[in-house]
Formats: sequence, C-alpha cells, structure tokens
Amino acid sequence: MYNFNKIINRKNTNSLKWDGLKSIFGTDDILPLWVADMDIKTCQPLLKKIKKITKTGIFGYNLKPESLDSAIVNWHQKRHGIKIIEDEIIYTHGVVPALYMAIQAFTNPDDKIIIQPPVYFPFFTAINANKRKLIFNQLLEEDNYYKIDFIDLEKKAKRAKMLILCSPHNPVGRVWKYEELEKIIHICLKNKILILSDEIHSDIVYKPNRHIPTAEINKDAKDITITFNAISKTFNTAGLMSSYVICKNMKYNNIFKDYLKKINLNSINMFGSQAIETCYNHGEKWLEGLLKHLWKNYHYLVDFINDKIPQIIPSKLEATYLVWLNFKNLKLNDEDLKNFIIKDAKLGLNDGIIFGPGGSGYQRINIACPLSVLKEALIRLEKAVIRKFG
Ligand SMILES: Cc1ncc(COP(=O)(O)O)c(C=O)c1O
Repeated sequence: MYNFNKIINRKNTNSLKWDGLKSIFGTDDILPLWVADMDIKTCQPLLKKIKKITKTGIFGYNLKPESLDSAIVNWHQKRHGIKIIEDEIIYTHGVVPALYMAIQAFTNPDDKIIIQPPVYFPFFTAINANKRKLIFNQLLEEDNYYKIDFIDLEKKAKRAKMLILCSPHNPVGRVWKYEELEKIIHICLKNKILILSDEIHSDIVYKPNRHIPTAEINKDAKDITITFNAISKTFNTAGLMSSYVICKNMKYNNIFKDYLKKINLNSINMFGSQAIETCYNHGEKWLEGLLKHLWKNYHYLVDFINDKIPQIIPSKLEATYLVWLNFKNLKLNDEDLKNFIIKDAKLGLNDGIIFGPGGSGYQRINIACPLSVLKEALIRLEKAVIRKFG
C-alpha cells in the first residue's frame, strides 16, 4: 500500500543531507546516510494537508488548530498508554532549540549538567554554548550493547543540577527499561536534579521493546521530568521546525512558559502545527508500514555485514533508524576511519567521535532510505574493506 522504496531525488532542494555534502565532507561524490532525516516521503494525509494550506496562497498570522492539543493527547494515549493533560503541553520550534531554552530557563552559568555519551552531539553544544559545565556519565558497552553506569551516575549526581536523557537513545539504539528509568529517577530525586527527557525517537521503537515515557515511571518522575517530543523523526518533518514539551509539574511548566514569553517564542508555525495535528490524527497506518520497512532494512544490514564484512559489528537496534557500527577491528585511528569511509567507501556517515567519549572507532549509519540505497551503501563498504584489508 505504501511505497517506502521509491527513490526520490533530493538534490538541489536545499537538503542538508544531500546538498551540504561538499561543505561537510569535502566532496559531493559520496552516498549520504548521515543526518537523521529520511529519504522517504511523509504520509499522504500530511501531503494533502500541506496542499490545502497552500491553496489560498496566503501565509498570514495563524491560530493554533483547534484540535492540536487533543491530537497530541490522543496519540500518546493510543501509542504509549499515557494520559497527558492539555495544559501540560507547551509548543516549541524544534527539540534542540527547546533544550537550549530549558537550560537557560532552569539553570545558571557554571551549573553542571549530566549527559550520557556516546550521545546526540547537540546536547554538548547546548550546554557549552550556554556556559554550563558538562558532566559525562559514559554508557557502559558490553558485546555491543549499552547500559547505564549507575555507580558513576550516583557519584556525579551529587554535583549536578540537570540530566539530559536521550530516551530512546541516539546513537546506541537503546530503549530504556522500566528498572533503568526507575533508578535514574531515584538518583535524580535524591540529588534534586531536573531531568530533560528527549523522547523524539519514541515512536520509532521495534517490538517487543516498548518506550516508557520517563515522566510516567512514578509520581516523583512526573515532578522532576520535562519531556521533549516532536513528529519530526516519526513523520520526517524536521524542516518544519515544530515540536512540543510536556511538563507535568505546573511550577516548572509556568517557568518555561514565562521564559518563552520573555523571548517572544510562544507562537506556533502554520505548517508545523497543522502537520502535528494531521500526522497524529491520520498517520498511524503509515507509521506502522514505515516501522516494518525500517526493520527490514535493519535486518538486511545485519545479515549483509555478518555475511560479507564481519569485521564490522552493528549494535543491537531497539529503536531509531540510526545504526551504531563498530569498526574497531579495522584498527584505524579516527582520522583514518573518517577518510576510509569518505574516500574509499564513498559514503557520508556520522563519525563516532562527534558523539563524545565512547564514540572512537564507530560510525553511525542512517537506514531510513529505500532498500536499494542501503544495498548500494553496503556494497560500497564491502568493496572498500576488501580493497584495503583483503
Ligand atoms: C535525540 C535527538 N533530539 C533532537 C533531535 C533534533 O530535533 P529537532 O530537529 O526538533 O531540533 C534529534 C535529531 O536527530 C535527535 O536525535
């Protein structure tokens, strides 16, 4: 019914992934499987909606769609079995900007903020750009599966004001389990740490794993967690720059709303707001199809690598369309690995080291593309490994 394998030419569309290659990788002559958007068309109801919005040819000031709040409430009830109250929702212009704003609204310069690398690198920049201090609670890796180092977290929590949690985790693909989240809540509560829970990947989760929103763990979790979400990963709408925060603690909720008023960012984008409403109300079937497609791609990748390039080890994927590949067996330093991927394999992937400690020797590959594109990428990788390493 849906065709997730159709090739769509994104060149010359101002696409960061395709048109930014020369400036990012130094060459156009590579196949891009890096930044986290999909080479897959979004759902039909959204395409129809955008057409309808453009029909008047007028893009004036707009009101919040009447059923936007309830679309979000219903989606989370249906997909994650949780109850959100409309007043708890705050609209923002992208998850990353919202994280920057929350850091500004809830911490002071020099306050310490914990993150769990290897992790989505804008967490680092958000903390550094705001002159707060980074504390690393590095994930533990065993057999290419990642866990939280709770002993280290207990120690470091004593000094920190905030924890930015990536749930599900980019790039290691973990879906945190109830017991893990419960321990995080326990430690953060004891040390008066506010949790920013980035749950942007929560809809791209593969069975039998189940995303558990951090704020839903228990009553304490509701009090100390602010959740960040969007349709941008799920429905491939990152360019619409629209997202939302769910803040159940009304004291924090008001602080954040007041902060947004202060910087005059309490408005909503015309396309983005209607996109959230439309995708959540009418996009579920498409999402189910997408999840099947991504899972198929992941299995193709794992089988191909195990069979043809066993020197490379993909991590177990519980969520996201980003696969964390371990290249340590090739014994290249990070600069050489980077050059090998770009110049020998002619691929554009994300260097592991940009994700911080624990990222050395890894590359992140984005598998949200037609299967034929992924096949081409893997063939390029296989040929490059054979040429260089025999
Ligand atoms: C964990 C995480 N948070 C946020 C984002 C980006 O969010 P936005 O485009 O809404 O700023 C990404 C994109 O890959 C991500 O992986």
